[in-house]
Amino acid sequence: MANGEGSSGEESQVTYYTLEDVRKRNSQKELWLVIHGRVYDITRFVEEHPGGEEVLFEQAGADATESFEDVGHSVDAREMLKQYYVGDLHPDDCKQGSKKDVLITTSSNSTSSWSNWLIPTVAVVILGLMYRFYSMDSRSS
Ligand code: HEM
Repeated sequence: MANGEGSSGEESQVTYYTLEDVRKRNSQKELWLVIHGRVYDITRFVEEHPGGEEVLFEQAGADATESFEDVGHSVDAREMLKQYYVGDLHPDDCKQGSKKDVLITTSSNSTSSWSNWLIPTVAVVILGLMYRFYSMDSRSS
């Protein structure tokens, strides 16, 4: 049963479902799951899923946030979610499971971290050598 909580359209746009509601939709006829506190009806997507049907059936009717993130789905995959959105997980049920969209940014700036100290060090060594060279030079004349 959908626990719509009086949100079937006019005044409030968000429909809330409890984990219990979602849990019931775990068959081949109907497959719902939760990702980041949002409820998705992916029944018609199962056959299209590039990662196969099996993994989706394993998560059916449950919170699939962790496995969804573990795979490292692309931005495209995240965009696709929108078309299957049916509502939010009821606040009572999303204590820890509702971290909103995690933005994964990759930074490959590892060179800057070592060049930060390497360049000044090399500069100091060169200046030191120059100083010694010139001081020896002036002593000999
Ligand atoms: C409704 C939610 C989901 C959508 C829209 C979705 C979409 C996609 C898409 C578009 C891909 C192709 C690769 C990419 O673009 O990232 C993919 C791959 C995959 N997905 Fe999902 N996925 C969903 C849920 C899940 C879940 C819950 C799992 C659970 C483990 C899963 C496991 C995988 C795996 C294993 C692959 C293959 C990765 C690879 O070949 O490298 N997906 N999914």
